[in-house]
Parts: sequence; C-alpha cells; structure tokens
Amino acid sequence: MNKEYYENPRIFEINRVPSHSYMIPYESESAALLMDREKSERFVSLNGEWDFKYFESLADLTEEISNWDKIPVPSCWQLFGYDYPHYTNVNYPHPVDPPYVPDENPCGVYRRFLDIEETDKEMHLVFEGVNSCVCLYINGKEVGYSQGSHNIAEFDVSAYLKEGRNEIRAEVLKWCDGSYLEDQDMFRFSGIFRDVYLLKRDKKHISDIRIDTDLSEAKISVSGVKEAEYSLYFEGEKIASGKFEGETVLKMKNPKLWSAEKPNLYKLIIKAGEEYIPQYIGFRTIEISPARELLINKKTVKIKGVNRHDSHPEKGHAVSLFDMRNDLLKMKALNINTVRTSHYPPAPEFLNLCDELGLYVIDEADLETHGFVTKDITYKYIPFNSEWIMDKPEWEAAMIDRAERMLSRDKNHPSVIMWSLGNESSMSVGHIKMGEFVRAQKTAPLVHFESECSCSRLTTTSDVYSKMYTRFDKWKNSNENPDDLRPMFLCEYSHAMGNGPGDTYDYVEEFYKNPEMIGGCIWEWCDHAVKSGDKLYYGGDFNESTHDGNFCVDGLVFADRTFKAGTLNAKAAYQNMRVYPWGGGEYKVVNRFDFTNLNEYKLLWKIEADGEVLQSGDTVVSAEPHSEAIIKVEIPEICCKYGAFITFSLVTREDLPYAEAGYEIAFEQIALPYEEKEEEAQAEKGIKTRETENDVEIIGEDFCYIFSKYYGTFTKMTVRGEEVLKKKLALDAWRAPTDNDRHMRSVWGLINNQSTGWNLNRPFNKCYSCEISENDGGVKFKTQNALGGVSRNNAVRYEQEITVSRSGEISFAFSGRIYDKIEWIPRLGYEFYLPEAAESFRYFGMGPMENYVDMCHHAKYGLYESTVDENFVPYVNPQENGNHTGVRMVEIKISPALTMKFEAAEPFEFGISHYTSNEMTEKAHNFELEKSGFTIARIDYKQSGIGSHSCGDMLAEKYRLCERECAYSFKLSFK
Ligand code: GAL
Ligand code: MG
Repeated sequence: MNKEYYENPRIFEINRVPSHSYMIPYESESAALLMDREKSERFVSLNGEWDFKYFESLADLTEEISNWDKIPVPSCWQLFGYDYPHYTNVNYPHPVDPPYVPDENPCGVYRRFLDIEETDKEMHLVFEGVNSCVCLYINGKEVGYSQGSHNIAEFDVSAYLKEGRNEIRAEVLKWCDGSYLEDQDMFRFSGIFRDVYLLKRDKKHISDIRIDTDLSEAKISVSGVKEAEYSLYFEGEKIASGKFEGETVLKMKNPKLWSAEKPNLYKLIIKAGEEYIPQYIGFRTIEISPARELLINKKTVKIKGVNRHDSHPEKGHAVSLFDMRNDLLKMKALNINTVRTSHYPPAPEFLNLCDELGLYVIDEADLETHGFVTKDITYKYIPFNSEWIMDKPEWEAAMIDRAERMLSRDKNHPSVIMWSLGNESSMSVGHIKMGEFVRAQKTAPLVHFESECSCSRLTTTSDVYSKMYTRFDKWKNSNENPDDLRPMFLCEYSHAMGNGPGDTYDYVEEFYKNPEMIGGCIWEWCDHAVKSGDKLYYGGDFNESTHDGNFCVDGLVFADRTFKAGTLNAKAAYQNMRVYPWGGGEYKVVNRFDFTNLNEYKLLWKIEADGEVLQSGDTVVSAEPHSEAIIKVEIPEICCKYGAFITFSLVTREDLPYAEAGYEIAFEQIALPYEEKEEEAQAEKGIKTRETENDVEIIGEDFCYIFSKYYGTFTKMTVRGEEVLKKKLALDAWRAPTDNDRHMRSVWGLINNQSTGWNLNRPFNKCYSCEISENDGGVKFKTQNALGGVSRNNAVRYEQEITVSRSGEISFAFSGRIYDKIEWIPRLGYEFYLPEAAESFRYFGMGPMENYVDMCHHAKYGLYESTVDENFVPYVNPQENGNHTGVRMVEIKISPALTMKFEAAEPFEFGISHYTSNEMTEKAHNFELEKSGFTIARIDYKQSGIGSHSCGDMLAEKYRLCERECAYSFKLSFK
C-alpha cells in the first residue's frame, strides 16, 4: 500500500466507479421484481471465508505471504483474535497529527480466489464497507483504492480479471487520514465489515437513476444509456410501462402515498440492454410549514426517533440483513417512526427495509471530527478554525465526497427525510461546502447539521435547528435568533444508558405542545458491548490506551435486543393514543397517528379492582388522524382495598410484520373511584412484654420480636420459630448509582473522592431516645433518630412511632426531615434483611417491570407475583434496579408456611434484591456480582426518579426526593 494514499487527504480514492444510486442488475423483470439480490444471476456474493494475514504494522507487510489464516468476510478482525477492540468516545485513539497516522498501523491482508468464465459483461467489484481504507489488487495488479469506511467502494475490475482462476487481494489498514473524519463514539473496529460482491453489468449500462416524487407524479431520469424502458408495478400488478425520454414524468391520479405509517411502495423496473434494475418509488413530500412544523404529505408529523449504530455483541459492526431487519421490526413494535443512522450511512439494503417497513430516516454522512475539541486537553469547540482540518482546503474534497456518496447512493429512497452532514464536527468552511453540494442536488430531504446549530448562530446550512440533550425549557430559549424560523429538532435526547431513560415521556408531551418542536431521536438504539463466552465487556476491558468505560453501553435495548423498562417506557411515550377521563363514565380517546384511523385497531377495556377483573369488553373507535373520539363505559360501583382502574389497550387486529394480531401498541390506565373495603379484624392473641436494659422483648403466641431501646429499632423478629430479620432493621437512603446518577453519585456518596459527597453509602443510624408506652393491650415505641454519612452532618433526622398490636401486627409511622444543605437524596426507606430463601413475592402496585416515579408509563397497577431473581435487572454495569412505585401491599414468602405482609393506606415504593446496594455500587460488570446471602426488601417512602443525566440534563425537580419533610406509614403482619 502506497504511503501517499493513506496519509494524504487529497487522495481518498483511486479508480473508483463514480457514486450513483444503489442498483442491482437482474436478468429478467420477474427476477428484478423480487428485489432479492442474492437471487440475481448478475450478483455474485464474495462473502464467506477468505485467507487473511494480520500485520501489527504496515512496515511488516511482505509481498509474499505464507501461512495464511482464515477469516469470515464480512467481519471485524478485532473479534477474531487480531488486535483488540478499542472503545473511545471523543478522544482519537491515536495522536492528533493529521494527516498522519501512527507508524504502528495494523494491516490486514485479505485474499480469495474466483473462477471466472468467459463473459461479455463488465465486472464491478463492490465493497459496501471497509474500515478504514482498502487497496484492491487482482492477479497481482493494483486496481484502486478507497477510504470512507461506511460508503460504497465500487471498482470496474473487468480489465483485471481473466478467464479461469483469479486472485483477489485487499489490503486494509486500521488507520488512514480518513480516520480523522471518523471519530464516532463507538468501538473502533477494522476490516471488511460489510458485504462484498461482484456485479455483472452490461457493457452499456445505466450509470445512475434519479427519482423525485411528490403527491401526484414521479420524475425519473436515467443516465449512461441512450435507451431504456420501464414498467411500474403496484401490489404485484403492472400499472404502467413505457420508454424513457429525457426526464420522464409519471403522472399519477391519487397515488397511494408513502409514509412511515403507510409505507405504500411502487416498484419501478428499468430495462436497459439486458439488465433489469428495480427501484422503489414512494410518493411523498417533505416540507416545513409557516408554523415551523414538519409536514410529510402535508400533514404534521412528530419525529419519534432513535439513533442507531451498526452494533452487535459478537459481530461488532458487521451486522447482517437479518440483524438490521430485526432492529427495524423492534423499532416498529415500539412506536418508533424515525431512525437517525448515527453517524454514517447504513448498508444500502437497510434503506430498502425502511422503505418497506415504514420508518423515516435521517441519513448521516460518515463524518465526525469530535476529537479535535480535546486535542489541546481542554474541551473546546472552535468554529471556523483554520487550524482544524475541516477548514483546511486540502480536506474539502474528502468532506464533500462523504456527502456525495451518501446522497447519490440513497437519493431515491422515500424513507430518507433528512440528509445529515455528520456529527460533532464543529462548524467549518468544509461543512458549508458540503451543505452547498447537498442543496445543489435539489433533492427533497431537508439538510440537518447539529454541530452548526451548537457552534455558530450565523450560518444556516441546516434546515432544522438541531440540538442535543437540551431540556425543553432551556431548549425553547436556546435559539436566541428571533429571525430563525427553522423548526427545532433534538437529534439526540433521552440518553438511554443503563437503568433509563426516564425522561422520554415528558419530552414527547412537549413535542406535542409546541408546533415548532418537531421531535427527536433517543440516544441510542442498543448497548454496544463485546460478548465473550456469556460475559459482556466494554471500554477499558481491553487494555486500551484511552477509553470511555461503559459510556458505549447506553442503548434503549440491551446488546441482545431484549427490552428493559426504559424501552417500554419510551414505547408508551411514543404511542399514538392517549385517553383522558371525560366525566360521567366518558373517556376522550385522542388519535396521534398521522395517517391512520384508530379504527384500524381494536380497543380493549377492562375494569379491575385489587387486581381482579370485574368487567371487560372491546370496541372499535373511529377517529381520524389527529382527531379524537368520546367513548362511554358503564362503571360499576366498586368496593375494594388497594385500588380500582380501567385499562384501555389498543391492539392490532391482524398479524403485521412486527407484531402478531392482538399486540398491544398503546394503553392507558385510569384510576376509578371505589369504596374502601372494611378491614378484617385480626384475631386477638394477646402479647407479653419483657424489658431488659437495652431491649423490649414482645412475645406472642407464635412470635417474638425484640425492639432495641438502644438502637431504636427491631433487632429480631421470630415468627413460628423462623427468624425473619437477619440484621437489625435500618433506615437507608442509598441506591446503587444508576448510570444516570453518574454526576450525582459523588455528591450523594463517598465514591473515589473524600471531599465531595454526603457519604450516604457509608451510613450511620443513631438513636437519641426511645419512649415506651402501653397501647390498647399492645406496646408503642416512640423514638428520635438520625441517619448520616460518615464525616458529614446528619442527612435525615427522624421520628418513629412503632406500635405492636395485641395480635402481633406492627404499625410504622415515620416522619423525617432532610438536612437543608442536601439538595436531594436517592431514596429513603427501611431495609429488611430477610432470609435468602425468601424468594417469591406478591404485590399490588405498578408492575410487572421495574418502575420509578418518572419512568413508569410502561407499568400498570395490578396484583403481581414474582421472584427476587426475576425482579433483578442485570444491567451490564450493576446499578439500582427492580423498584416498584404505587405499591399498597407486598407479601413476601419467608418460607412455605410463613408470609410477611406489608400494607399501607398511601402508596409506597418497594424493591427487593439479593444484592446489597454497596455490592452493586462497587462492581463494574454484572458477572462480578456476588449475592449477599439475604433477601433485602425495601419499604420506601420514596425514591428519586431516573431521568437521563448520563448525558442529558439533570433530573427534573418534580422527580427528585427533595422535600424537607417526609412522612409515611405502613403495617407489617404475618400470615
Ligand atoms: C453525543 C454524540 C453521540 C454519543 C452521545 C453520548 O454527544 O453525538 O455520538 O457520543 O453523545 O452517548
Ligand atoms: Mg462524539
């Protein structure tokens, strides 16, 4: 590989076929109609096992290679024993010395053989993605060179191939000057990571196709041939055909429009010579209204999106068509309507899938130069800085090339609604040139460039005012320029790291309240982790020179694409139905779909009291898009203990590609009034008390409790011979910090720093006084206590009134005051250390998945059964999990014969785990966790919400446990 190529920003390709729309030739119209390239006779996949040789440095590369290894193509070589995975976010993984890259530049050489028969075709060899650059040799002769990892590199190899056996060889470098343009926050992997194939083209073939549509016509032009014909199909029927003459306009009478909700596609088959090329046509428009709304087909659309990287726990960036489809189906099932292809163009088939399944796409150029902001240590964006490559003339063509290859390849996809000029790259002359290039092409998608909006208020390269993570109140005021009439868009928000995100719902409500806020994309679709055996690893686990730890494990879904609470909370936020009580048994059903009548779904309803279904039914509600309907349900008189609710579920009526019939796409639960059921009288049993210097022993027929006057708490509870309390009962305020607590954890706790925190993870409980009195045949304790972290002022001063009744029932009444100087605390409540064997439990409250005060829109009130192990959520980085809000009753099975029951008149929060908060605080991977040997049940006054402060804004105040006065009460009994 010639050094001139990979350390020269002016050379980013040699002998590449000019970029053009993605086209696969087929041998017949019927074959083309299938749009399955693997079935085309003109498509030869070169995927599979290749010979491979890895050199730690390009300097070691030898002309003659013996002892070849084998590697699958496509793949990332770091996942096959060569080199190592490297996770870094902003920082470049090498010195910032453009255009130079380290001398120790690893090189992978790929080789395979190919038998060719005599042919009159032109042979094009296509790499869909090679990181970071590739030099292609055929039969020992250099064919060409390309960089730009996520763009297609196509070479006309006809002149290099011979009849019979041919040697194809690709030299790939880990780094090239192009790597300076690819500083995306991800694991850095190398190699041929996307498909490789040969296309057998007619000698005279179409070199490009351009399709522009609106709501009544498609303008089509083909280049490269003099004559070409077309056939237009819809739903399998040929509806038009003809010959191309210059720009050909297909006029349509009321075509079925394309949108994410109704992805109606026409298929155009273009015939030139002996080739048939299929392209999708979707009739749609993209506009911005005078009110700054996003209009698709003239209708206001909110972007309910997600950012997606190519990421797989075992394959790294080498995701298959199946993997991509699987992601998109899951997105559809989660009410996501937009995907931003952060931060590079996806494999071309991905866009066909988006066209087919119905997802809007923000297609992003393969460009990020984030690491410049830290090259001089302090984090600083400097727009229009002639010192940075983005403003250097010699880099301009390479930057434009990235916009050009994205746009020319993807321009015909109806799903693409925005072209993004890249991510986190400051604002520069290079970007202005990219923007000019994109505008000059006059395609329908809007231009997007967040870095411009964040760095420079003077230019308007971007059609949307795009921001990241800004909370809506700040966001609304963030664009200081009153003349700026661009719609506001959050290209990233609701950072989904770890337990979370908790703030999606509030954002979405804000999108709907403000016409100019057109929506946003959650950061990000899936956890990036590297799986080895059954363990998941992240940054720093590979001895990287610089890394960003688990900041890559920030997906809305886990690495294996299973869902967490934050996933379903986002689904609920994005759902297209809201129901509000309207009085007198009436409910207002609001349709947020843009192109779908609610009557395409079925609406189920059920009335439950204490978790028992009293009545249920179903109906079909007709409500046009963006309109509402009133429905009436007869509500019976209800008498119950814990709560009554009506639940509306919007379910699919037929099987869809992403869901079976009956799938709940949206739901709402509304509380109903009820009459409180009388308490059942407890059998009077009679107790004896025995007082010693420190303790009061309370002895009943089948139990014995010891209350310590010294500690002001229970130190022992034995019921029917079983020891229930394994440690003295204690008040606690700590939770294992979530990833979203990463800025708060060292304020709350003593974590790597002696001087910043309230040290709530090193707690001391103090009892100042304990008064004992007789109470209706029982006994009552009144204590004054405090909870404080080591070295600090007490965090909470509290009073307890604890009554043991004659029947052995214990009532707790807690009232506390949080120290004025502590802004807010993670949680507050009692921790009961129970025997480890206490495994199954039942509760009335919000479930079945964990939920928190802000992240609870996915949960329903009900009566649930679970086990401690099931309740545990194995976040890759261990953290707080398994909480339930709105709880009125919990029963924990201590043993087959003994059940412990907590009840309260006002809802409390409840969590249960075999792991202590400290264990989860300290361990860095889920596989390191050790169970405590106990079942730890928390009966909490409250817990603070989740938010998404790992990268987003601070948790909203309304979700913080920040009040000064806290009081709650509950009862404990045994069955
Ligand atoms: C953004 C960036 C993403 C990712 C995210 C944090 O600033 O655009 O690529 O780094 O933050 O997870
Ligand atoms: Mg970045």
